[in-house]
Amino acid sequence: MAPVTPSSRALAGSAPSGPAYTPVARGLHWVVALALIATIPVGVLMVMPGWARPTQDAMFVFHKNIGVVILMLMILRLVYRLLNPPPPLPASLPASQRVAAEATHWALYLVVFLMAVSGYVRVKAGGFPLEGLDALGVPSLVPRDDGLAERAKAIHATARFALFALIFLHVGAAAFHGIVKRDGVVSRMWPRGAA
Ligand code: HEM
Repeated sequence: MAPVTPSSRALAGSAPSGPAYTPVARGLHWVVALALIATIPVGVLMVMPGWARPTQDAMFVFHKNIGVVILMLMILRLVYRLLNPPPPLPASLPASQRVAAEATHWALYLVVFLMAVSGYVRVKAGGFPLEGLDALGVPSLVPRDDGLAERAKAIHATARFALFALIFLHVGAAAFHGIVKRDGVVSRMWPRGAA
């Protein structure tokens, strides 16, 4: 096991000995977080004008396929979470913050799903390739339909604002608990080897 240093402990918000998410839950959380960090800026950049065609194509391929991986990981996460409830929050946490945390977490699940599913529908109903799934021979789950593709595109473009707001709230709350309060909330999800 990696040594626990005072600085790594401070970042995690408390000693790592309290109840924590399981290694699987923590692994899924951080892999999805990294995938979102990678795919969101590419999604925003790739729809801007001025790219050379090969560069833009590469960004689309990256964004679409990482998006599908996120969708699969989120399904896995949801099933895992329903079977393995999260560890309790510290008793010191006020009821209002418990409710806010619970609401933000479920809203994040909902909006990440909405983004991934609307992206999938936008591409497949629009008749565009989805390289990874196509290579595996996975058939389209939606019919070819330009109207449906346009509606999915509008949902994808609008729901991103809800996602940005939720990520801001989520990271802000984590920073508040991990750096200001140091009350053990963040250490429940912090990578164990580092905390
Ligand atoms: C959680 C996963 C995802 C996130 C957070 C995400 C985020 C974004 C963002 C922020 C944009 C820019 C929207 C704009 O400026 O109008 C975008 C565009 C786009 N995304 Fe995603 N996306 C996700 C999953 C997917 C998936 C799974 C696909 C397809 C399989 C996909 C396909 C697209 C396409 C085609 C565009 C360009 C929209 C258009 O103009 O047609 N995305 N995405």
